[in-house]
Amino acid sequence: MNLHKPALLIPAALLLLAAAAQPPADLISIAVTHPGPDISPRMFGIFFEDINFAADGGLYPELIKNRSFEFTEPLDSWTRVNRLTDAGELIVRDQGGLNPDNAHYLRVRTNRDRSGFVVSNDGFRGMGLHAGSEYVFSAWVRAPSGAYGKIRATLLDERGNAVGEAVLSGFGPEWKRYEAVVRPDSTVQRGRLNLVFDDKGDVDIDMVSLFPKDTWAGRKNGLRKDLVQLLADMKPGFLRFPGGCIVEGRRLALRYQWKKTVGDVAARRAIVNRWNDEFSHRPAPDYFQSFGLGFFEYFQLAEDIGASPLPILNCGMACQFNSAELAALDTVDQYVQDTLDLVEFANGSADTRWGGLRAAMGHPWPFNLRMIGVGNEQWGPQYFERYRRFSDALKSKYPDIQIVAAAGPGPSGKDFEYAWTNLRNFKADYVDEHYYAAPQWFLQNTGRYDKYDRSGPKVFAGEYAAQTVAIASPQNRNTWEAALAEAAFITGLERNADVVRMASYAPLLAHVDAWQWTPDLIWFDNLRSYGTPDYYVQKLYATNIGKRIAPVSVNGSPSNGAGGVYTSAGMDDESGEVILKVVNSTDRPRPVRVRLEGAPRLEGQARITTLGTTDLKAENSLDQPLHVAPAERVLAPSDNQFELTLGPRSMTVLRAKYGR
Ligand code: AHR
Repeated sequence: MNLHKPALLIPAALLLLAAAAQPPADLISIAVTHPGPDISPRMFGIFFEDINFAADGGLYPELIKNRSFEFTEPLDSWTRVNRLTDAGELIVRDQGGLNPDNAHYLRVRTNRDRSGFVVSNDGFRGMGLHAGSEYVFSAWVRAPSGAYGKIRATLLDERGNAVGEAVLSGFGPEWKRYEAVVRPDSTVQRGRLNLVFDDKGDVDIDMVSLFPKDTWAGRKNGLRKDLVQLLADMKPGFLRFPGGCIVEGRRLALRYQWKKTVGDVAARRAIVNRWNDEFSHRPAPDYFQSFGLGFFEYFQLAEDIGASPLPILNCGMACQFNSAELAALDTVDQYVQDTLDLVEFANGSADTRWGGLRAAMGHPWPFNLRMIGVGNEQWGPQYFERYRRFSDALKSKYPDIQIVAAAGPGPSGKDFEYAWTNLRNFKADYVDEHYYAAPQWFLQNTGRYDKYDRSGPKVFAGEYAAQTVAIASPQNRNTWEAALAEAAFITGLERNADVVRMASYAPLLAHVDAWQWTPDLIWFDNLRSYGTPDYYVQKLYATNIGKRIAPVSVNGSPSNGAGGVYTSAGMDDESGEVILKVVNSTDRPRPVRVRLEGAPRLEGQARITTLGTTDLKAENSLDQPLHVAPAERVLAPSDNQFELTLGPRSMTVLRAKYGR
């Protein structure tokens, strides 16, 4: 099995044969002499939501599920192994806990010495362990009687063999954190952790943690390295977090509240994840949010990968697909205050209340927050009543902060039009449009923004993905057909980059054993991860942005998918570089000649990157992560033009230099 072999590399002989029967070459002409408006350097970014076990069990690499016994069932994910003996008992208590927000803890009572009393945690669909890597096992422990000997933590593989052990010992009457490093001697896909209590007596435990040392940038409480690497490789312009519907909550009490996700990790109270029982076809009763990945960590991640942070906050409305609960207008001020406080947390100096907390968490310098979203997929008059309060308060205190406003869940219709009418009147900065639709829709809507008002609010294409079966269908797949349609659609975003200033695919991450929603950009299991064909489309756009729009025509007409060929281009008129994207959605090879209008001299070879396969159903997988992946080559100009053949069902990026 060759993991690194891209799928389409159409054999040269086939291309030659095809060339014999090829139609005349289309002429793609790029008007570098007439550069258009600028393209935002932040145009292509990422949308993160804790769906599909994207945070706990994914990006946040804690291996113990329900580490602080705060799930609705406090012993969820914990089992007493020797259930039938009188060796001891488990008691969940909340008196004298670690702190009021994390009140529950486990009292283990063992009835005799060397009882071999064992409590086991099975992680997030098992625990992924890498042989030889170091993991920090830690727990807050207290001995109610004044002293307790030791707790052994044993890592087990799928067959129950021990692959590593750590021991914590010497516990006293006060809560204290203890830690030890464990290095498993085998790689395990679905391991578990046993806690062995050999001494007689009572011992209290809380915040039980098994955390890899090798996180992104080596941070404590850091993030899973392979997943952040995939994100960093995209060079995303922005990071939108924490969602999505998770911002809204099914009810207001369960909305995302950023203040409850910062500060001491042990004091962040876990709550149920709204995706836990959203879909009866994919129930996940054990899906909670520990908030170990909270707002500080999101800002840190954005900074680490060079993305502008774009937090979205609740606007006083729970999800309108669920309870549609509304905060009374006279209570919305609290929500507004949370938003103002977030700006202080991100940007304020260390002597402010919230800036001080950021500094105390290890980041004295600001996070450079410049944009905030108010509400997710809200619609109707109640939203605009609330939106106004946020925008008035934000603009008066922080006039430089740009606001992203909601336009509901769909890309058209009465509610969508109503949203745009209001937001145009309010002179909103950005309108967040979402489209989850069939691949055909994306191919048919590449001209969507050609006629948008140039003077109105800018567009944030905040969530989109081609759905091969139907929206939210569990049968949707991340096929090349879907990615190709998105690639074609994005030519329309780039061509209209004066209107569309930001765009992101959604959702971002999914655990192969624990997902609720498909398709997703990146899939992972407990040890491995891969980017889908959609991921490579996003990456090609994000890593090939020009500074300004370069107008493109095909055979003399403005390019908009005629004959199944979609194009857009960016350019840098200072450095003299042009970057063309061409999508051939047809099943035939397409010979093209690429010329610069006014014929400035082409300098050197072009770098050509191609992505695609004739198999529209092709997908990547954990075993074949690069089945559909970009391939690069160089091409010399001939007679001051580039001649090439676009593969059937392909996306091509051509980067070339020209003299001015
Ligand atoms: O991306 C999944 C969900 O789709 C998001 O949470 C929501 O905003 C949209 O409906």
